[in-house]
Amino acid sequence: MRESCIALALGMLALGCDSESAQDAEVQATDTSEVEAPRECIAPEGLGRPRSIEQAVDLINALPKPTSLSCFVESLDRPLALAATDSQSSAQPAEGAENARLFITEDPLIMSVLPDGPGSDKLEFAVDVGDGLSIKAELEFPIEAELPYAAPYDEVRRATGTSCGACHLREQVWDTIDDVPIFASEALQHPTERDISPAFVEALAGNCDPGLTARRCEMLTAVFAHGETVAEPLPELIKICRLVE
Ligand code: HEC
Repeated sequence: MRESCIALALGMLALGCDSESAQDAEVQATDTSEVEAPRECIAPEGLGRPRSIEQAVDLINALPKPTSLSCFVESLDRPLALAATDSQSSAQPAEGAENARLFITEDPLIMSVLPDGPGSDKLEFAVDVGDGLSIKAELEFPIEAELPYAAPYDEVRRATGTSCGACHLREQVWDTIDDVPIFASEALQHPTERDISPAFVEALAGNCDPGLTARRCEMLTAVFAHGETVAEPLPELIKICRLVE
């Protein structure tokens, strides 16, 4: 079953998404002993492992202001369950393994970050709500002041839906929070050939030169230098997207 989700701005390319599942659910621990840094952003007891967008807001509100995205990531409890891709098809287009899109999962919450480039100032959220759908939300960093719970949903709102709906189809109102609609849409994942082992990204993190790519090194340090990471593919049932010509 294959359908074309969107025509990308590039003109010739489209995104084909299907429900085939090709992930090997190999879970491996990666040794982080090579990259270690002192932790400056510390989550208060019980807030370091958000499983919902509201719990992520609670954590952000508890961190010093202004809060950078790397500070938020640094504060998360370890081990951190990670998947990585060099896919360029999303709102956080990766550029090779050096600038891979990283998914942090704490079921049913998936958060994604990109170390550098367009989209790297955003924390993207999806909450699995079943039937191949996930609630979508987003926050732009740095965050200057305490956030209301509706803020991440408000940020993705456009005229009739969200900024995510162009690629994530089947968009629908799922709920509301303080009069702000919460939208769910199709959950998507990269194909296996675009998968990058988090251990490989970690090895790159160990060689990151802040003199050359300060921003990228800051995020890679936030992800990898504060304890163990565990490779965890996105849920098998999520639709897979490939660029097709
Ligand atoms: C240009 C197309 C595009 C847009 C716009 C887009 N996405 Fe995606 N998204 C993708 C693709 C493709 C994937 C599969 C992973 C990959 O290739 O990086 C994906 C996967 C995801 C995932 C992984 C799990 C899931 O449930 O889908 C999250 C989280 C996500 N996107 C969040 C968002 C949010 C939030 C928005 C809106 C602010 C958004 N995306 C807008 C293309 C897009």
